[in-house]
Amino acid sequence: MTQTPKTVVGIDDIAVHVPKLFISTVDEFARARGIEPAKLARGIGVEKMAVPDAHEDAATMAASSVLELMRKNDLSPEEVGRIYIGTESGVDEAKAIGTYVIGMLERVYGPGSFQECSTVEFKSACIATTHALENVVYWLKAEENENDFSGADRESGQSRGRVGIVVATDVARYELNSPGEYTQGAGSVALLVKRDPRLLALDPVVGIFTRDENDFFRPIGMKCAVVNGKYSNLCYLAAMDGAFYSYKKRALGRGMIRLEGGDCTTDHLSHIIFHIPYPRMAEYASASIFRREWRDLPRWQEVEEEIGPEPRIEDFEGQKEYLSAEGDYKRRFSKSDKFLEVYGKKVKPSTLISSVVGNIYTGSIYLGLASLLEQNLLAPGERVGLGSYGSGCSAAFFSVTVQTGIRSMKTGGFLEMLNERVEISLEDYQHLHEGERRESVISPSGEFALMEIDRDGYRRYDFVG
Ligand code: CAA
Repeated sequence: MTQTPKTVVGIDDIAVHVPKLFISTVDEFARARGIEPAKLARGIGVEKMAVPDAHEDAATMAASSVLELMRKNDLSPEEVGRIYIGTESGVDEAKAIGTYVIGMLERVYGPGSFQECSTVEFKSACIATTHALENVVYWLKAEENENDFSGADRESGQSRGRVGIVVATDVARYELNSPGEYTQGAGSVALLVKRDPRLLALDPVVGIFTRDENDFFRPIGMKCAVVNGKYSNLCYLAAMDGAFYSYKKRALGRGMIRLEGGDCTTDHLSHIIFHIPYPRMAEYASASIFRREWRDLPRWQEVEEEIGPEPRIEDFEGQKEYLSAEGDYKRRFSKSDKFLEVYGKKVKPSTLISSVVGNIYTGSIYLGLASLLEQNLLAPGERVGLGSYGSGCSAAFFSVTVQTGIRSMKTGGFLEMLNERVEISLEDYQHLHEGERRESVISPSGEFALMEIDRDGYRRYDFVG
């Protein structure tokens, strides 16, 4: 009996769009807010935040990243079967943001060119795009069954059937003068998802954690999120831990990862990209997971030699004293040589672009992927772990395997593009933030733009040549 080869589905290419404007966190902004620049650059890890111009919103940014992805892959609209969009910056309570995006794309490709492409808006705070990705993968697998693509195509290297595009697009906006303000940002990431991808194949295991929380939410009608800042860090860590251990259990259970004496699951992940609301958060997540992974392994002895043993609750008079010692130990662990060495290799490189763009909510984790590609850090056969977090809250931990096709791909150049952005004054930033500025700081050119919102609230977009 001939066996149908297993479908390999994953990410074939990626395109990132960020606004042309930015504000530096370490100059005028830090002075005006009375914050030491070092706190923002090092304590938070953000030096620049992308700011959308008056003609930009989540829909224009999404259309821009999709257009770039289609152009660089020479894709025609009829090849695209799905455009699934993750966003928490939706522009309408009913109409899917993707219909606006398709409307914009049809200004370039012609009316009706995307009419056989379906689009859904996924909302689940910052984890939404990961769910969109999972769903496009299901669709590709289902479409394969329907069309019975032959395995011979894979051998000949021909692309089989239609592709899906997954888009993350968001404007991270907090109240002026709030502690969230210096973790803002804006941008969109588009992922080309297809069979036999050149870049990354999705592994078959996903670990999930979900719990009802009030760490971060945005009630209908509000422009800025309601944030319980410090508490949101704790929710993120608890959910990430839960999702990672769910992944670990499943990956070990089905033999996808096999442990040998003295190693742990994270040793089998060459890189780990955690959701990046701000770069330091990826460090906190790493410290939490590595500490739990390592504490029963021989290497823990090295850690203890450097920072001493972990505090044990039975050695303290009360919970308060124990928690204080635990907080202190956490800090010492995250400064230990052993941790810094592994964090520096496996996780920190994923935060590079976020440090000069800020939080792009549901796209931040995929911006982490772009950071690794930008630095040419991925090699065929490597396994990459991804820890996605969405407030409210839920987390997903999954992995991908780097494909040989990566060798044929041109990477790099995005950081140079970011260097060409225009810095704006605190005053312009504040006016844009509050929606008080109608006129663009830089007139749109060669891009999609919001032209007007009519009396009924319908948004008119165009491609401005
Ligand atoms: N030099 C260097 N570092 C300094 C410093 C200085 N002069 N001054 C302070 N720091 C350090 C602090 O020591 C601290 O680091 P450690 O944790 O290592 O001690 C770091 O700067 C942060 O300072 P604070 O603890 O004072 O934190 P903050 O009051 O500035 O608030 C925040 C930080 C809670 C993240 C706030 O910015 C916030 O509310 N952000 C929005 C919510 C958010 O991003 N939450 C993340 C989890 S939720 C999520 O991930 C979903 C999402 O995308 C929103």
